Amino acid sequence: MKSADCIVKNCSQLLTCEGRIPKRKEALQEVGLLEKGCIASFKGRIVFVGDEKRFKEEVHLEENSIQIDGTGLVGLPGFVDSHTHLPFAGTREEEFVLRLKGYSYQQLAEKGLGIQTTVKSTRQASQKELLSLCLSRLDRMLLLGTTTVEAKSGYGLNLNDEIKQLETLQEANRFHPVDIVPTFMGAHEIPEEYKARKSDYIELLIQTILPEVKEKKLAEFFDVFCEEGIFSIEETRKLVRAAKEAGLKIKIHADEFSPLGGAQLAAEEKASSADHLINITEEGIKKLSNSQTAATLLPAVSFFLMHEKKAPARKLIEEGAIVALATDFNPGSSMTESMLFVLQLAVFTLKMSIEEAINAATANSSYALARHEDVGSLEVGKKMDLVLWDVPNYPTLVYHLGINPIKHVLKNGKLVVRDGKIL
Ligand code: NIG
Ligand code: FE
Repeated sequence: MKSADCIVKNCSQLLTCEGRIPKRKEALQEVGLLEKGCIASFKGRIVFVGDEKRFKEEVHLEENSIQIDGTGLVGLPGFVDSHTHLPFAGTREEEFVLRLKGYSYQQLAEKGLGIQTTVKSTRQASQKELLSLCLSRLDRMLLLGTTTVEAKSGYGLNLNDEIKQLETLQEANRFHPVDIVPTFMGAHEIPEEYKARKSDYIELLIQTILPEVKEKKLAEFFDVFCEEGIFSIEETRKLVRAAKEAGLKIKIHADEFSPLGGAQLAAEEKASSADHLINITEEGIKKLSNSQTAATLLPAVSFFLMHEKKAPARKLIEEGAIVALATDFNPGSSMTESMLFVLQLAVFTLKMSIEEAINAATANSSYALARHEDVGSLEVGKKMDLVLWDVPNYPTLVYHLGINPIKHVLKNGKLVVRDGKIL
């Protein structure tokens, strides 16, 4: 007989999001709904999902186990936020106010605002300051139901400050219950001091910073901003190939403002994901949909930048793309830690169904991080990362706006949020 040391019973609805990951097309509708669901784990891993009667027959509950009554609560896998720029210092509300007066994000970037502003403040911050900023943001994420988060460097743009950002993430991962998946994104911008000699910066990235990141084992992924005026398709390909050589998995900021063809490149280079895709072309949609590369949509960015144009979520789903959702949390184009808000935007602005959005924020985003063996659905063998929401049914998560109905969060089978408070 199996043992359990943690049990949650009587959830009014338990959404397991089980099934083959990645999910495409109709499979995105399947959320694995269990009424009166019971779920149990042992040493952090799920050992049982089903009804209570069968639990009693099949599983022995150890003394002093964690026991949670899920009556009136809806259980979901913890959100996997697969795209954030977490370790930054300084905020950009002044730039935001200028945007409200009519300046575009790109006009401001040309004036030296935008990413460069955050590069300055992040370079100035000590590792201790950065860590404390990261920890409070991770707390907010946890309180909004995120249990795994990807986090990128990319506001250092030199050896010391990129390493500082990545080491901060390593430390935060040790201290905080949320799992952090680190990404090296030195190719986020061309730093001011290299503006006139971009190819030298690319060489610095490839010859100096990347080997150090590899040597110190500071990142699992490599990401690059493939965009007009930033890194071209050819430059992106060069960077991506060097990162693959260094053993990193690939993500690409693709087709965000201009249809350069980053989506096609991501598919060709077998990237884990192509992210943004607001300006993806027809060809890009076809290529990405027929690949193993996830299409990560970030609807908070179109919302935050007040752009009419949105990523073509319906078209991507119809063509069979692996659609995932993430916040893109950063101070310039998406100042939100909330995956719940992203879920709501996906439904209201991208016309995704509630079920598609839930799968995209859990199962498929775990795939975009190559963590789908561990998280993203509630299945035997996976981590007990469970969020209990105080809503009468799961559609209410999207229907009732502007509140945070979190009740409890279990991370690795441990209670880390109780009654909406971090323990
Ligand atoms: O994903 N697109 C590039 N990078 C970020 C924005 C970063 C910033 O504005 O600080 C993004 O949107
Ligand atoms: Fe981003």
